[in-house]
Amino acid sequence: MHDNGPVHTGDDRGPDRVVLGDNLDVLPTLADGSFTLVYLDPPFNTGRYQRRHASAAVREPADPTTGAPRSRRETVTGFRGSTYERVRGDLMRFDDRFDDYWSFLEPRLLEAWRLLADDGTLYLHLDYRESHYAKVLLDALFGRDAFLNEIVWAYDFGAKSRSRWPTKHDTILVYVKDPARYWFDSEAVDREPYMAPGLVTAEKRERGKLPTDVWWHTIVSPTGKEKTGYPTQKPEGVLRRIVQASSREGDWVLDFFAGSGTTGAVARALGRRFVLVDDNPVAVEVMRARLPGASFEIAEPPAASAV
Ligand SMILES: C[S@@+](CC[C@H](N)C(=O)[O-])C[C@H]1O[C@@H](n2cnc3c(N)ncnc32)[C@H](O)[C@@H]1O
Repeated sequence: MHDNGPVHTGDDRGPDRVVLGDNLDVLPTLADGSFTLVYLDPPFNTGRYQRRHASAAVREPADPTTGAPRSRRETVTGFRGSTYERVRGDLMRFDDRFDDYWSFLEPRLLEAWRLLADDGTLYLHLDYRESHYAKVLLDALFGRDAFLNEIVWAYDFGAKSRSRWPTKHDTILVYVKDPARYWFDSEAVDREPYMAPGLVTAEKRERGKLPTDVWWHTIVSPTGKEKTGYPTQKPEGVLRRIVQASSREGDWVLDFFAGSGTTGAVARALGRRFVLVDDNPVAVEVMRARLPGASFEIAEPPAASAV
């Protein structure tokens, strides 16, 4: 990596960054509380994970009074007894594949929590097979009071099953770092047409309505100008709402499962700064073309510990 140092905020900002590497190696190099928004679109539960467990230590946020390291898990244990470990243990026993998946995600979500600013928000994009597990665990990990929304992104594209209701939605779980301080600007969000425009005044019709937690939005059009060719690319329109509502101009946005760099493209268009991480060189090449001017870096694997 060219610069392994922390992301600085305030006047001392570096360039927007794209880092090639396992996010678990990169995240510990970033400073606590640097990001107003973390958007994560991890690979779904395919049963194939390069690294399940943290080999890089998850750096723990400092206790504000004592300065001692503190993890969210310890905080949870502190005020909820053994809730998190019990929920986790129960779910792990229930489903082996989930054990594998959650062991992969958990240390990364703990890092996301550490990296969020006090007014920050996490958006975790999952599909219907994972979201219920993740909801229960994130309630325990972030705190139930930190749960803000379950967004349903509904689309209508592709083949349709005849043997059950065709599954045409993803779920985006939204958690805040601090329910008393988080940033959310509904005025900044692009509005949408009313479903029954005849029932509202011309003035309201003109302004459009605020989106709810159900977002109808097409997938990336196979022939549209947004398409990069990266297989799991998400539409800019979905990211646009997230970035508009949960960050301000100049804020830093983090996506450490960055893929084609949709989060960076939208953050840039809206005047935000970004750090993107992906361990797939193909993804980084796509981002190089999509995000000219950003700093492109290769993560150093963590130094092997001395024997
Ligand atoms: C679902 S895709 C993200 C797509 C992205 N939202 C977009 O719009 O293009 C998930 C990405 O996570 C990356 N990934 C998986 N495991 C990773 C890891 N341990 N560290 C960094 N990136 C990882 C994959 O290479 C893949 O590009």
